[in-house]
Amino acid sequence: MTRPLPKVIAASQAASQRLADRHTPFIMDDWYVAALGEEVKDQLLARTLLGQRVVLYRTTHRQVVALEDRCPHRSMPLSAGTLEHDTIVCGYHGFRFNTEGNCIEVPSQATCPANIGIKSYRTHERGPVVWIWMGDPDKADLSKLPPQDWLEDPQWETSQGYLSLQASYVRLHENLLDLTHLSFLHAKSFGTPDYAKAAFETEISEGQFALLRNVVPTTLPPVWGVPTGLTGQGQAARIVRSEFRSVGIHEVSVSFYDCHVPESARKTFRIRTAHMPTPETATSTHYFIVHGRDFAQQDKATTQFMHDQLFVAFQEDVVGLALQEQALEATAPEDLYEFSVAADAPSVAMRRYLLARQQKESQDRSTP
Ligand code: FES
Ligand SMILES: [Fe+2]
Repeated sequence: MTRPLPKVIAASQAASQRLADRHTPFIMDDWYVAALGEEVKDQLLARTLLGQRVVLYRTTHRQVVALEDRCPHRSMPLSAGTLEHDTIVCGYHGFRFNTEGNCIEVPSQATCPANIGIKSYRTHERGPVVWIWMGDPDKADLSKLPPQDWLEDPQWETSQGYLSLQASYVRLHENLLDLTHLSFLHAKSFGTPDYAKAAFETEISEGQFALLRNVVPTTLPPVWGVPTGLTGQGQAARIVRSEFRSVGIHEVSVSFYDCHVPESARKTFRIRTAHMPTPETATSTHYFIVHGRDFAQQDKATTQFMHDQLFVAFQEDVVGLALQEQALEATAPEDLYEFSVAADAPSVAMRRYLLARQQKESQDRSTP
């Protein structure tokens, strides 16, 4: 048996203490996706974000409003009330709240007490997604949102979707930063056996972590092979960059081309996927995904084909990460240890960064 020596296990456990995991409190001062824009209509949408209950709706002027989902009178969720002229009327005793969260009417009396309002959160709609700032409102700064120009660029044909993940958002970021798992977790969908063994490079700097892989030559799975026409055995190059861009967004960019055609004559097909995890609770995550391509624009059948194939693959992550979370949950802390390998370097650095960010935030909050 080659079980590690106790001192090796102890060293691994000590190293894990420096990494964010499901026990790490959430980083509040950053942008997260609250919803896909298409989900927010002129009706009340309840959603738990970073452990807090939020109610979302869209005003007659198309603005997205996000308020605390608890009436300050007797704690009825406001999402169980009604939306009237851009205000929420609580479904219990009828207190009315405006878009800023101020209470503006108490039906049982002529005057409304001042300062009994609820928290309102800053939102920002960009392309197909609605971002929210759950932390200190004075620190909400749009420059902290990484640019995602392609999400609004008509050159990029996009589709989007949502998955409910029963695992920590930290493990989803980790999953995305090392696509070695394509050969195994996605063996039946968009992984190929050569993927895990392909050479890779890493980029690690403060708050930015990436892993790059060139899989050449390779055979493309149908999701890419069919729409690009690169269906031959060993015909394609698959050039991949997976990048943690902020706590709320990870981007995967891939180029495909025929590796037997000289560079000057080849056509390159590009795809991008924005993976946007928002913690719901410590062990559940809203997983928003926007996928785009710069070819076969306006081809609805291709969009549907790729979307369907991709969501089969992303569902495999959802299943796998939930199993991982269950195994973590079932293991006593003294028996829990994990070993990292070279391909984990960006995700280990990312988890260190998340923990350091969270610790700094707690410190700043406790220092007046
Ligand atoms: S609980 Fe909302 S008005 Fe009473
Ligand atoms: Fe995956």
